[in-house]
Amino acid sequence: MESMSVMHAHRGSTLHRRVVDWIVERAAVRLLSPRNANLVQCREPGMWEAYFDDVEGIFEHQWQTMIWPLVKDFDFSTVLELSPGAGRNTQKLATLAKRIVAVDYNQYALDRTHARLGDARAGCVIEYHRNGGTDLSMVPSASVSSVYCWDSAVHFDRDVLTAYIAEFARVLRPGGRGFLHHSDLGARADTNIKRNPHWRSNVNKVLVADECRQNGLTVLRQQPIPWDPIVDCATIFEREIRGDAESVPPRLGRSLQSEDRVVPDVPPDRSRSGPAGV
Ligand SMILES: C[S@@+](CC[C@H](N)C(=O)[O-])C[C@H]1O[C@@H](n2cnc3c(N)ncnc32)[C@H](O)[C@@H]1O
Repeated sequence: MESMSVMHAHRGSTLHRRVVDWIVERAAVRLLSPRNANLVQCREPGMWEAYFDDVEGIFEHQWQTMIWPLVKDFDFSTVLELSPGAGRNTQKLATLAKRIVAVDYNQYALDRTHARLGDARAGCVIEYHRNGGTDLSMVPSASVSSVYCWDSAVHFDRDVLTAYIAEFARVLRPGGRGFLHHSDLGARADTNIKRNPHWRSNVNKVLVADECRQNGLTVLRQQPIPWDPIVDCATIFEREIRGDAESVPPRLGRSLQSEDRVVPDVPPDRSRSGPAGV
């Protein structure tokens, strides 16, 4: 009898917390700037947890058909992975990298990845950092050879993503490359991402290309990423190399020759649609 009343009290408190979270979220979306409302939404307790499990099984297919063709020329020695979630990308990247700096806005995501991969995996050292939702302040300037972000920035408000693009330009070494999967809904998106297909944000590819250029990043390619019923975009960018050629690592130096600059087109994967979740 006593345990029944404890159970009711627990259910009551869970329901109460959900109602309070819902009210806070609605108020945030109405009252805050789109940037701050997006940050409040994206740190809602447990918001991404179910999704982490739902999409685990489709990752290998995504990697083979959409991701790898776009990143195969990257120098993976030190990778900044933004928003690893539960670590499905991190596990794959660890087979290619010597060091991964994993940065996420939610501690529970970092905890999931750490529980899965620990401090090192397949000879790759993995660091974990929680950030404030728009910064890479824990990453020294010009310290990473690649930036990687899949299936996360698609949810970021344009001001949040703009802040991150400036940070990508700062942390990339000259000649380093970035892979950024983002929304292309632009002005068609509601400020409340939960009203948009797959919770996509108000970013579009023109904004991303402009922000890259303004921050000294050369856009090498923008690839449509079908995510039924919408189409996202992946932007590949490179930090400009200034100064003498001696400072350029040989592999990147070769990949900068003019005939290699445009990565050949990857046929969009039309054989399957995106995940039913976000
Ligand atoms: C849909 S999950 C995807 C996770 C992972 N990239 C994957 O492919 O499985 C979105 C991730 O973005 C993180 N996130 C949300 N808003 C963020 C922000 N403003 N800055 C950094 N990470 C954020 C969440 O904590 C979550 O880990």
